[in-house]
Amino acid sequence: MYSEKVMDHFMNPRNVGEIEDADGVGQVGNPKCGDIMKMSLKIENNIIVDAKFKTFGCGAAVATSSMATELIKGKTIEEALAITNKAVADALDGLPPVKMHCSNLAEEAIKAALEDYMRKKNGETGDNKTTSCGRRCEDIEHLHKD
Ligand code: FES
Repeated sequence: MYSEKVMDHFMNPRNVGEIEDADGVGQVGNPKCGDIMKMSLKIENNIIVDAKFKTFGCGAAVATSSMATELIKGKTIEEALAITNKAVADALDGLPPVKMHCSNLAEEAIKAALEDYMRKKNGETGDNKTTSCGRRCEDIEHLHKD
């Protein structure tokens, strides 16, 4: 049912935990099952230099979160925002269709953490309209409204 990569990331999840002085923190819940994920990010010069997660969720949620943190490390904010749950699932050689919803947690937690980062950054500059990633932030708001 699960690929070797899924099993590997489930049994040996990467980047579990919490970054103490995180620049952005996001927590999301999966409406389908009630599972929860918290993602914390360290960002320097627009690059995600560290990412850690904690998941109160199923094995597929653990594996996708683990892979997602691996994928976003070293990426720019814009590149990280472009990573979809499908891309994370593909990087794990796929998930069973009934478990695809689990991969939403990782994508949404990353977006929530980046949104938190941008909110704090804009707060510091006193400008809550202009963001470092313009259109993408509208996408995030759209995602949250949905
Ligand atoms: Fe809830 Fe997988 S069953 S995230």
